[in-house]
Amino acid sequence: MSAKRVAVLVSGGGTNLQALINAQRRGAIPSGKIELVVSNVEGAYALERAKKAGISARTILRRAYSSQAEFEGAIIRALEEAQIDIIVLAGFLAILSESFTSRYPRRILNIHPSLIPSFCGEGFYGLKVHEAALQKGVKVSGATVHFVNEIPDGGEILLQKAVAVRADDTPETLQKRIMRLAEWKLLPKAVEMVCAEMKERDS
Ligand code: GAR
Repeated sequence: MSAKRVAVLVSGGGTNLQALINAQRRGAIPSGKIELVVSNVEGAYALERAKKAGISARTILRRAYSSQAEFEGAIIRALEEAQIDIIVLAGFLAILSESFTSRYPRRILNIHPSLIPSFCGEGFYGLKVHEAALQKGVKVSGATVHFVNEIPDGGEILLQKAVAVRADDTPETLQKRIMRLAEWKLLPKAVEMVCAEMKERDS
């Protein structure tokens, strides 16, 4: 049975995409293969990372479409053309509607930079998550990989990893440490887990 076809949706720097590419290179995702990268932000550095790795990459901008439904329709077409099985949101900061998420039950994964259910849901993305964690004074934060459903950050949790907060942390230092110690490890692991399960179901 061949590897599951994986698409990675991005909006920014793409360090999580890079973690997936690196994991694939070292053979840590034997059940899946990254076939497509889609960015909703023009010139996102993640696109450069895809190009360097020889992965086909597309930019699909919300503003090029007159409605959210048409924007999502363009993403769906790209996914179908590439015959994608699994969709990974790796720092993809657009919210997808229920009509999109319900098309792919247990087939969309997201990485979120906190221990869900803390500091998650609408408005909690990127540095804002770490600002909120520091503001609250939590001593432990971390990252979560979960399935995506119609509730923002509300789908079934797949993997979590805790990271200690330091007294002198800034949102930037906390973000970096959570990426290095949690996100970049959890995401490849979860992708392999889901692809392997899917292959198993098909066989
Ligand atoms: C990551 O920290 C990711 O967890 C976060 O955005 C960053 C993207 O970085 N995602 C969210 O906040 C989703 N709600 P990257 O582009 O370098 O992977």
